[in-house]
This record gives sequence, C-alpha cells and structure tokens, in this order.
Amino acid sequence: MTEVPRAAVPGSTAMQRGRRVENVVVGDEIVRHTLGSRVVHWLVASTFVFCVLTGLPVWSPVFGWMATLVGGLSVARWLHAWLGIAFAAASLIMFVQWVSDMRFDAHDKSFRVLEYLKFSGAEDPEVGKYNAGQKLFFWAALLGALALLLSGIVLWFPMSFGQELRVTAIILHDLTFIAFFVAVVGHIYLGTAAEPGTFKSMTRGTVSKPWARLHHPRWYREVTGEERRR
Ligand code: HEM
Repeated sequence: MTEVPRAAVPGSTAMQRGRRVENVVVGDEIVRHTLGSRVVHWLVASTFVFCVLTGLPVWSPVFGWMATLVGGLSVARWLHAWLGIAFAAASLIMFVQWVSDMRFDAHDKSFRVLEYLKFSGAEDPEVGKYNAGQKLFFWAALLGALALLLSGIVLWFPMSFGQELRVTAIILHDLTFIAFFVAVVGHIYLGTAAEPGTFKSMTRGTVSKPWARLHHPRWYREVTGEERRR
C-alpha cells in the first residue's frame, strides 16, 4: 500500500488511517481503498462463496456433490454454520469501515439505474465516491447478512425455538440467500467485465484518473482539486 505525505492530500475528504490514506492522488493513480478495506472485502467475499458451497448441499440433494469438496454432508453442515459466523463478523467490520461513505445524499435521488447500465459515459457529474446503486447494495448486503445470521442461528439450534419461528427462519434464510446471490452476481459483473479498471481498486487499491473522472466525477474533483467542467 502506498504511503503518502499529508501535503499530497488536496481535498478535505482524504481519510487518514495511521499513515495509510485513501482518496489521494499518487502520480497518475488515485488511491481508492486502503489495504485494510481490501482485506476485509475479500474476507466477506470468500466467506460468502464458501457459505454457498457448504450451504447448497445441505439445502438440496441436487447439490450433494458439493459436499464431497469438504469431506461429506456432516462436515458441510457444521462448517456452514461457522463460516456463516465468519461472514457476519467480516460484514460487520466492512460496515464500520465504509458506513461514512455510504450515506445517501440529495444527488442520489437523480441516479437513474437504467441510464447508468447503458455505460454511455453520460453519467451525473455529481456522483461522488459511490453511486446510489453501490450505496443501495452496501445497505442491502448489511441487511442480508443480518437476516442470514439471525435465521441461521434458529436453524443451527432448532430445538431451542418453536415450530413457527423455525418455519419463518427457513423461509427467511432461503429467500434472503436467493436475493443475495442474484445481487452478488450483478455486483461481480459490474466490478469486473462491465467496468474495466474497477477490479484493480480491490486488488492494488488504486484507480486511474480517467476511470475516476468517468464513473465518480464529484469524487474525482474533490480528490484532485480540479474544477467542474462546463
Ligand atoms: C467474489 C467476487 C467479488 C468481486 C470480484 C468484487 C469486486 C468488488 C470491487 C471491484 C469493488 C470496488 C468497487 C468500487 O471501488 O467502486 C467492490 C466493492 C464492494 N463489494 Fe465486492 N466483490 C465481490 C464479492 C462481494 C461480496 C460477496 C460482497 C458482499 C456480500 C461484496 C460487497 C461489496 C460492497 C458492499 C462493496 C462497496 C459498494 C460497491 O462498490 O458496490 N462484494 N467489490
């Protein structure tokens, strides 16, 4: 992770975490995510994937073959529960790290998701570090993680709860998983193939200036100190 002296920080949005910073220009690049944010994001992502691999065979025999990857169905069963705890814990840390950037503001109301998905480059010049779609995904992921955790605890200790709560937990766990899975597939597409240059923000932590100017124009201006173009 690049270390940058304070003097290199032009905007007030720069965030100092010890000596590690984000939202700063380093040569032709802009630091978008600290090492800490990236490590936690990949913890969330990997625990999610392993939860899917251990949860699907428990859900339906159609996916039974997946259990052989971890040593059988009984292993998948207890591993899934502990991976779920790890996923929820990592999601909580991710929440604390990013919540200050994820508050909706007045500009988010004018975000048009269909217009955005055309990738025409004609994006709202007031889009900040995250667009409204990303903020929505962040809050949905947090709510989803909470719903999976709470319903998962009921399913982990079924004898400690009544029949009604058990049935509610099964429905909640399954529906939340399906919605989460669909959202994550869309998220992966947007973070890789759909927007070249985005994936690097989660590996090296940096993005190019043209990427930032195109996708997050207000953030770009705040970080570089450039004026808005007329
Ligand atoms: C497994 C493949 C995944 C890939 C390739 C991926 C990629 C990325 C990238 C590149 C970003 C940075 C976007 C930016 O800086 O503008 C990001 C952000 C984010 N990721 Fe992921 N991610 C993955 C999985 C997940 C999972 C499983 C979750 C949650 C359960 C998640 C939650 C988030 C959130 C909340 C953000 C911030 C908001 C956003 O940019 O949408 N990611 N991801």
